[in-house]
Amino acid sequence: MLKVSNFQSHLTQKISDLKQRGTYKSAKHLTTPMQAHAHLQEMESEVCVLSSNNYLGLANHPAVVQAAHDALDKFGLGTASVRFICGTMSVHQSLEKALAKFHKTEAALTYSSCWSANTGLFSVICEAGDVLISDALNHASIIDGCRLVGKGVVRKVYGHSDMAELESILKDSENAPRRFVVTDGVFSMEGDLANLPEIVRLCQKYNAVLIVDDSHGVGVMGKAGRGVAEHYNLEDQVDIYTGTLGKALGGAAGGYVAGSQSLIDMLFQASRPQIFSNAISPVTAAGAQAALELVTADRVASLRQKIQHFKKKLHELNIPVLKGESAILPIIIGETSKAIECSEQLLKKGFYVTGFGFPVVPEGEARVRIQVSDDLTFDDIDEAAYALNDVLKGLVG
Ligand SMILES: Cc1ncc(COP(=O)(O)O)c(C=O)c1O
Repeated sequence: MLKVSNFQSHLTQKISDLKQRGTYKSAKHLTTPMQAHAHLQEMESEVCVLSSNNYLGLANHPAVVQAAHDALDKFGLGTASVRFICGTMSVHQSLEKALAKFHKTEAALTYSSCWSANTGLFSVICEAGDVLISDALNHASIIDGCRLVGKGVVRKVYGHSDMAELESILKDSENAPRRFVVTDGVFSMEGDLANLPEIVRLCQKYNAVLIVDDSHGVGVMGKAGRGVAEHYNLEDQVDIYTGTLGKALGGAAGGYVAGSQSLIDMLFQASRPQIFSNAISPVTAAGAQAALELVTADRVASLRQKIQHFKKKLHELNIPVLKGESAILPIIIGETSKAIECSEQLLKKGFYVTGFGFPVVPEGEARVRIQVSDDLTFDDIDEAAYALNDVLKGLVG
């Protein structure tokens, strides 16, 4: 009993420390579907959502919702089993075929999240002596996935988009049996793109396998929304893709790996989140497949117009946005407390924009991060920009 109460008081102390440092996270609660305007329980009103990854506005699209309903009627809620035992349904197979076609790969394999995909990939493909090279700003799931590789795999990190450092690591490891380079397609806190042309050139020169997590690129980059590799016309140069179904592709949950048939076969045999954890729900699989069919050039072009419009408006108002071509528009505020205050004031004005501070981003680089959705109207965008301008003026003054 004493031990338990010590434990509880330890946790209470840690939580109160987080609150004191201003880094305690609390969830706000939507009472309506995820879309441009959603009702927020805490505000007792509708707000304009500028912080979801619902890039193409498909999370509550009628065709996506209908496909999910139909799958619920046909398959029930779930598989009640991991996949290799008896937990794979035809709806998973059909989604995986569609994902492979989308990425122009031989095959694809879904996971319960992209987090699971990333943490289940590297320990299968990297063996003792191999070198696994990762960008410093890669997503946390890649960082953790890299940590899970077996003994004898050499892990290296290069400075964010530092191509000279990447080359020097590749050069130093020329005698390794295999080298793997892994990068986000779009970096989620900065909104910038991986320098894929140079990364591809280096991977070719040093015979390295290239893995791109395009969770924030799919549905946003490339004419047809196939992501950063399509944007650079380098789709045939990426060996392995990982991605999420939780952002542009319907926004529910789930992730995937796409690549060669032998890679996918191997992951099915040995990837731990694959063999020890259930498949995504058939409802999610059917919804994601319907969303994938709605990733059209027209939708992507419309989103891109809105991104351009948002940037132009912020530029007119002299609000500096970090450079990048994605739908992520970070505005550096500086101190964590100010970024959080900015976000709170925006919410009071009816705009839901998240503030990020240390330790998610480096000290002194706290920011608010706007994410553009095709669901937003041009009026929403103008009003959001004016609201941000008012709030920023108040914060500085
Ligand atoms: C680049 C990247 N990879 C992976 C993930 C994890 O995706 P999921 O929510 O499917 O686990 C995210 C989510 O934020 C991400 O931004």
